[in-house]
Amino acid sequence: MQSKLAFGFALSLLFGFASGNGFFSEETISAFNFGLENEIFNEQVISSFSVMDYGATGNGQIEDSQAFHKAWKDICNANAGGEIVTLEIPRGKTFLLNPLVFQGPCKAKAIHIQLGGTLIAPLSTSWANEGVDTWIQFSNVDNLYLDGDGKIDGRGSIWWQSCMKKSVYGILFVCKRRPVALHFNNCNGLQLNGLTHLNSPRAHISIKNCKDVIVSDLKISAPDESPNTDGIDISDSYNVQILQSIIGTGDDCVAINGGSSFINITGVVCGPGHGISIGSLGDVGDYDTVEQVHVKNCTLRDTQNGVRIKTFQGRSGYARKISFEQIVLSNARNPIIINQFYQDKGKLSKGIMKAGAIEISDVAYSDIRGTSANDQAIDLRCDNVVGCSNIVMRNIDITPGVDCPKTYAVCNNAHGTATETQPRVPCLS
Ligand SMILES: *[C@@H]1O[C@H](CO)[C@@H](O)[C@H](O)[C@H]1NC(C)=O
Ligand SMILES: *[C@@H]1O[C@H](CO)[C@@H](O)[C@H](O)[C@H]1NC(C)=O
Repeated sequence: MQSKLAFGFALSLLFGFASGNGFFSEETISAFNFGLENEIFNEQVISSFSVMDYGATGNGQIEDSQAFHKAWKDICNANAGGEIVTLEIPRGKTFLLNPLVFQGPCKAKAIHIQLGGTLIAPLSTSWANEGVDTWIQFSNVDNLYLDGDGKIDGRGSIWWQSCMKKSVYGILFVCKRRPVALHFNNCNGLQLNGLTHLNSPRAHISIKNCKDVIVSDLKISAPDESPNTDGIDISDSYNVQILQSIIGTGDDCVAINGGSSFINITGVVCGPGHGISIGSLGDVGDYDTVEQVHVKNCTLRDTQNGVRIKTFQGRSGYARKISFEQIVLSNARNPIIINQFYQDKGKLSKGIMKAGAIEISDVAYSDIRGTSANDQAIDLRCDNVVGCSNIVMRNIDITPGVDCPKTYAVCNNAHGTATETQPRVPCLS
């Protein structure tokens, strides 16, 4: 299955991105696709595989995981002379997949999975008990490029029902253990582009232990009331760009968790959902850090929160060098929040205040405007010992939305400055 394709130009583009050369603009993406389909650049041998050659049916009824597994073994072991190996998942077909792990490291320098079709998860929750926490997982695969106009549908509603049923009886709100739809562990140089992600049982995409990642032009969608269906979760990762994506789910659109630094989120439209969150930090383990997170040119529409930093009490570490700029709010509840006293229902006993907090510093908010769905538009709740320092607000105008007569700010132990900020923030000078 060796084929000759023009690749030199496309390849240099790909590695250009992988080395963090900046933005993944529409022009460069179409140039990339153009390079793939037209033999106008210098020829190089690449390997190309299709899941159809491995016995996949693509009829949405018969389970196709074995075919994907076999195709992966060949791709991962293909030695394409340091070039890209491509796996084609064709358009117009639907592939029913049981939980799969695509394990690396691979021999090829880069792996390109072109997803035109639709991947669907089983309509059963039986595998939850086997300790499987992910539906589709990539592990230790460098320079993985997953793109196309296909869909990944987690068909999560049966899983969500397992949460909702219990709450009806008012006993305990405990969900069945649920999988993340698409998980990347230790995938450096990862790029995700163009796909539609639907109805995950839990988070749609999680990125852990990865560096130099570009995510662009995704659509992620699940109902407002679906529990814990985060759009994109990032943890223990470095240099991640999330660009131009539309995310509407039942939980955080993007959540940045501990161990992450140099994370840029630009041009994301979020809603419904819980907004863009840093944290919860200190969720697992006692020490957690996040720094250099920049959220820019994002829209939050009908979200439960806007831009939020939440850290568990009684832990240590820091969240610092964070900026939120050019944010448009449309009927967002709690547009700006810092909460250093976060507690998860069920994890800490009620009423017990634990000493200590994760330090929050150097947080800049600028050019934030639009409407709030509740009156408390700015809420800075910081610990009286550790506190929040160098909080800078500039050019903020949050006005009352429908059913909200006025907006105001509350704050405790937050230090810094505010200029041209409405509502007025009493604790900032
Ligand atoms: C991330 O955002 C910051 C602040 O806007 C910017 O200075 C930096 O260049 C951005 N990084 C990338 C790789 O785009
Ligand atoms: C801002 O984000 C929107 C998507 O909400 C995008 O269409 C627009 O091009 C972005 N503008 C800039 C200057 O990045």
